[in-house]
Parts: sequence; C-alpha cells; structure tokens
Amino acid sequence: MLSGIQPTAGSFHLGNYLGALRQWVDLQDSAEAFYCVVDLHAITVAQDPAELRRNTLTSAAQLLALGVDPSRSALFVQSHVPEHAQLGWVMQCLTGFGEAGRMTQFKDKSQRQGAANTTVGLFTYPILQVADILLYQAARVPVGEDQRQHLELTRDLAVRFNGRFGETFTVPEVFIPPGAAKVLDLQTPEKQMSKSLPGAGCVFLLDEPKVTAKKIRSAVTDTGREVVADAANKPGITNLLTIHSALSGRTVAQLEQDFDGRGYGDLKKELAEVVTEFVAPVQQRTHELLDDRAELERTLAEGAARAREVAAGTLAQVYDRVGFLPPA
Ligand code: TYM
Repeated sequence: MLSGIQPTAGSFHLGNYLGALRQWVDLQDSAEAFYCVVDLHAITVAQDPAELRRNTLTSAAQLLALGVDPSRSALFVQSHVPEHAQLGWVMQCLTGFGEAGRMTQFKDKSQRQGAANTTVGLFTYPILQVADILLYQAARVPVGEDQRQHLELTRDLAVRFNGRFGETFTVPEVFIPPGAAKVLDLQTPEKQMSKSLPGAGCVFLLDEPKVTAKKIRSAVTDTGREVVADAANKPGITNLLTIHSALSGRTVAQLEQDFDGRGYGDLKKELAEVVTEFVAPVQQRTHELLDDRAELERTLAEGAARAREVAAGTLAQVYDRVGFLPPA
C-alpha cells in the first residue's frame, strides 16, 4: 500500500483526514504500508523554502499524531528517495501529451494559477504520482475521490509498461472510502473542501478550537429548517451530517432522528464539539512531536531507508527493462 499527501498548507484539513488519512491509519494492519509527504509535488506551485521545510516537518508530525505507526509503516519524505524522480522521468516518456492534458486537476489548477505561473512540473505532476505508487508495487492506494483520475492514469501506465517491456508493475486498485470521500467546503458546498478556496470554509486540524467553532457556526446552509440529508437540495447540511457521522460513528439516519424538531444551530453547535474533541489530542501530540525535532528526523530517515530498499529494486528492474546500459 502506498499513499501521499502534500505538505503545502502546514496543517491538514478535515477533507484530508476523512477522505484519506483515516484509511492510512486503519489499513496499516492489513498490508505493508508506505506513506510519504510529497515535497517534490509541493514545488509545482511557487513555494517559500523555509516554509516548505517547516510544513514538511509539521506534516510528518501530524501523520504520526493521527496514528501512522512507524514501527509498522514506512513514513518518509519523497525527496529523500531519489528513485521517485528517476522513475517519474521514465514514466513521462511513456505518457501521451494529450493523455496528460486530460487531467482535470491540472486544468483546474492551471486555470487558478494563470498561464504565466503554470509550470511544466504542474503538467507532469500526475506522472510523478504514478511513479510514487508503482515504485512500491502498491496493490491499494487509499485516497479521496479527487484522486480517482490520477489512479486511472497509474493503472493505464502500469499496464502499458508491462505490455511493452514485460511484467514489472503491480496494477494498483484505488481505495476510496464510502461516506466521506469528498468533504465539501463549508462556505462553498458545491466544491470540495480545499485550502485554496477563499473564505473560511476549510477546517484545519491545527486550527484553534474557537476558530473551528466559528467556521462551523458560519457554514452555509439552505433556507429550510429540517436537519435531513439531501445532497442535491441541501448540500451544506448534508455535508455537516456527513462530517458528524464520520467522526462520531453515528449513522446519518440516526443523526436525522436525533435532530428531529431541532434546528441547524443545534447541529452546528454539536458538530463543533465533536470536531474540537477529535482534534484536541491530535494537536497536543503534534506539538510534542515537533518539540523533539531530532527524533522526528530520525523517524523520517528510517522510513526513507526502508522505502529506498524497495524503490531501488524496482528502479533497477525498470532501467534494465527499458534498455539502459548498467554502469560497469
Ligand atoms: P492532497 O495532498 O491534495 O490530499 C491528500 C489526500 O486528501 C484527500 N482529500 C480529500 N478527501 C475528501 N474530501 C476532500 N475535500 C479532500 N481534499 C483532499 C485527497 O484525495 C488525498 O488522498 N496528488 C495527491 C498527493 C499524492 C499521492 C501520491 C496520493 C502524491 N503522490 C501517491 C496517492 C498516491 C494530492 O495532491 O493529495
């Protein structure tokens, strides 16, 4: 199993957690897992170097605080394993220009960046993601709904490579959780929760409890009064119910019953409590881990060493299959 997350925001948000990270933690028992903080992907848009370094550490600390266990899973930083970039190049040479141009995340992001700030790296971003996955022969990739297309590209390229050069890669299955695969923005509930949307609709795990409560209190809802799930007509309320259900373990049907005859305000108040109760210990643990930077860096170095053992083997096989002369 392999998955990755970008360190760009400093703090992960509820969408990252419910859509992906919770599965990272839950699935650790079922397979050998490789989890990486994808700093190479983070520089496809302009970055501040000091901030990137800080955010990479904070990301690793949050993953550990959420329950990624380094004794079972390899937790590492992508740039510590040079094979990602090396396999990325080989896979780029197998990808059609038009095929890469069809990636909807690229279309969205490049539109947001504007032509002058759209780099070639942003265009080839999904192919580096393909390399991340194939290097570890991952059978399963736990991600949110927005990554589905990148996973399809991964499967296509794995099949293409295998067909052209002989069985080399495992063709991975996407693992998208039922329920919270697409957490919506609290202010713009027609879009998925994302750090890049304007407004206060993104709930970060490291937000102060007061900030979280305020964001939830001011979530956009419709003009009705009933707390019922109806994705088409009540996307805002449905989203709040989904988040509540995912964190509290109560089903959406149960919640509808519990809030029968009560208003949106009650739901928001209770949800703010549920979220802050969940994040409080995660925040505390994240700060403790960040206080011992040497230990955190040791954990990441061990993770990278384990990752390299597997990655180097795959890359050597790939280099041989494509016809590179081995160094004497
Ligand atoms: P990233 O860093 O944007 O997001 C990390 C994970 O969080 C999920 N996610 C969401 N799930 C539900 N609702 C949301 N609102 C929401 N927002 C984000 C994402 O689906 C993702 O699983 N390209 C990837 C990073 C990556 C990767 C990989 C993932 C690089 N290499 C290899 C898997 C395998 C990305 O930008 O995720």
